[in-house]
Amino acid sequence: MHALDALSREAREAIRSAASVDELRDIELRYIGRKQGKLTAILRGLKDLPTDERAIVGTKANGLRIEIEKLIAERMSAMKGAHTRSQLEKEAIDISLPSRRASRGHIHPLTQIRREAEKVFVPMGFEVVDGPHVESEFYNFDSLNIPIDHPARDFWDTFWIRQHPRPTNPKQRLLLRTHTSSLQVRYMQSHQPPFRMIAPGPVYRYEASDASHDSEFVNMEGLIVDKDISVSNLKYILLTFFRTLLAKDVEIRLRPSFFPFVEPGFEIDVSCQACRGKGCAICKQTGWLELAGAGMVHDEVFRAAGYVKNEWKGAAFGVGMDRIAMMKYHIPDIRLFRENHMKFLEQF
Ligand code: DAH
Repeated sequence: MHALDALSREAREAIRSAASVDELRDIELRYIGRKQGKLTAILRGLKDLPTDERAIVGTKANGLRIEIEKLIAERMSAMKGAHTRSQLEKEAIDISLPSRRASRGHIHPLTQIRREAEKVFVPMGFEVVDGPHVESEFYNFDSLNIPIDHPARDFWDTFWIRQHPRPTNPKQRLLLRTHTSSLQVRYMQSHQPPFRMIAPGPVYRYEASDASHDSEFVNMEGLIVDKDISVSNLKYILLTFFRTLLAKDVEIRLRPSFFPFVEPGFEIDVSCQACRGKGCAICKQTGWLELAGAGMVHDEVFRAAGYVKNEWKGAAFGVGMDRIAMMKYHIPDIRLFRENHMKFLEQF
């Protein structure tokens, strides 16, 4: 019984002063461990005691064993709790810190130009439309009076979609559209004249890029079909457009040119905004910049759309929107629009 009292004091003291969970585990082994526990040894020796002593010592020793187990468990959970607390303190986030200011994005300069253009045309009665960017050879070329063997196709080298087996019908052969002119016949087929539409959107060309050419750019087609449309209507509309987007005193000139889908056809030059027409590096000393193509819709195009000959007249134009943005914001290189450098984009 003395030995038990001493063991009890010793064990309680050890548990109270233990500094870690590991130390508590050692104590557990030392007193109540199955192999070397001091108390276990006493319990094992019970059978050698006389019967009357065995009951008394046994009760006390068993009570002590339960007590030690309980004390160890209590301290262990206290230690683990403390451990969790210090862990939490270490990982705490100061929620009183002000948050980082959310920065507001803005519209890409090319989208801005496109929206400005729509604002000019919509009040003049134009519908804004889009069509497939992966287009058929038919709508991109054949329907525009550019048959497969026509040398004009060389102007619009493009990216073809690999198809197995390769269809022979141009209506099934796919490519990335080289111009928004691909929407002319599409629109004519699904609309009854008179109508006016613009079709802004990306187009693609297979060509080496430089400061004024890229393999992707934003093009905007315009198409007016009515009974009595003339080149003067075309000129007035384009002049209004450039004057609204660029400057009130902009002049334009129509230079005769060839596009298979119009007759007559023109290049539209705009007086250089950088030098006000005096001549500079941007306009190559001419005072003019070519920003669009235009003309009167060719009979062959109406025929491709299924229109009766001479029933309608049409005027069409195609504008290079990147070049307009370059003029307007004095951007020296067309490739900047798609490189996505924030330093560049944040200026607009
Ligand atoms: N699609 C032509 C091009 O990509 C531009 C063009 C010229 C469009 C004359 C027209 C037009 O509508 O009438 O170069």
